Amino acid sequence: MTSSSSSSEVLVNFVMVVVLVMGTSSAQLCTDFYEETCPNVHKIVRSVVASAVSKEKRMGASLLRLHFHDCFVQGCDGSILLDDTSSFTGEKTARPNNGSVRGYNVIDDIKFKVEAACPNIVSCADIVAIAAHDSTVILGGPTWGVKLGRRDSRTASFKLANGGALPSPASSLQTLISNFNNVGLSTKDLVALSGSHTIGQARCTVFKTRIYGDANIDSSFAMTRQVRCPNTTSPSPADNNLAPLDLQSPTFFDNNYYKNLIMQKGLLHSDQELYNGGSTDSLVKQYIRDPQSFNSDFGAAMVKMGDISPLTGSNGEIRKNCRMVNN
Ligand code: HEM
Ligand SMILES: *[C@@H]1O[C@H](CO)[C@@H](O)[C@H](O)[C@H]1NC(C)=O
Ligand SMILES: *[C@@H]1O[C@H](CO)[C@@H](O)[C@H](O)[C@H]1NC(C)=O
Repeated sequence: MTSSSSSSEVLVNFVMVVVLVMGTSSAQLCTDFYEETCPNVHKIVRSVVASAVSKEKRMGASLLRLHFHDCFVQGCDGSILLDDTSSFTGEKTARPNNGSVRGYNVIDDIKFKVEAACPNIVSCADIVAIAAHDSTVILGGPTWGVKLGRRDSRTASFKLANGGALPSPASSLQTLISNFNNVGLSTKDLVALSGSHTIGQARCTVFKTRIYGDANIDSSFAMTRQVRCPNTTSPSPADNNLAPLDLQSPTFFDNNYYKNLIMQKGLLHSDQELYNGGSTDSLVKQYIRDPQSFNSDFGAAMVKMGDISPLTGSNGEIRKNCRMVNN
């Protein structure tokens, strides 16, 4: 090998390393992103979330779900928060979100207070991520290091939100696994994150076919749920009647979700798929036996979910109002 070819190889390698480092570092979130620019952001978010949850416990569940529905559609970029206008249709009216996703006003309240403290610094996408964490902790769940530095999108996608990016409650285990794989989340992440259904409520319309049709459901549980969810053809007013996703403790973040599954008392068809004789049964049993492993897997999976395709560097913007793009 001549000395000139080896030095040009060194140069090529050097350029490749620089490109790699720049490419990854600009896409990197970190937990102390606002340490210098908005040191009070955590305190502000926590206090607004705490007061919203003390008024209505369910809001904690709603805020956790808001982060999930943001992240699964073009990444954690605040796209779900954009209101429709006469010339723009966002994600709010997509099937999984319409009349179902809640918490937009709480995000507005947080944003208002954060803008007063540090204008033009903190993204709506990051506010949603912190609010999801704080909600979980306030309801008794695990903590994790929330990575920050996401920027807000100038777009949203009704089509993606409506068309399969968000998992349907009618899904099979295989479909759920591929849904999560599509955004870089593993089967373990699927099982751990589904533990979110230890809090919150679901509408009759999403569990009706399960309580009238599924074979793998406890019959007395099905009868109990049928009382407020008649087998009428949709649309019907009863479609909006609510039932707790965790029949035991729907305002407490614990591992009862998994205990329900082994008793065939999962409310959604998709919940029960995680314990139906398939590959995820063993993890469900593990999370019952060892709640600490659920807590740590849940936190790790939330960090991974929060890392889905963030906008960083000069991509996107810091919205002034979470409901609309900046002019
Ligand atoms: C595995 C696939 C999943 C499916 C099919 C699914 C489906 C659903 C459905 C249908 C509802 C009820 C919505 C309604 O009736 O209005 C719901 C509620 C909820 N989901 Fe999921 N979900 C999944 C995963 C997740 C994940 C990953 C999280 C959080 C990280 C989450 C958090 C929640 C919470 C907290 C609620 C209650 C919300 C409230 O009470 O406002 N879900 N989910
Ligand atoms: C969203 O829900 C509202 C109220 O139920 C309904 O009128 C509207 O048609 C729905 N939008 C879409 C796009 O399905
Ligand atoms: C519920 O309604 C569906 C659709 O109308 C029907 O096919 C099914 O047999 C009903 N199930 C029960 C248990 O009544």
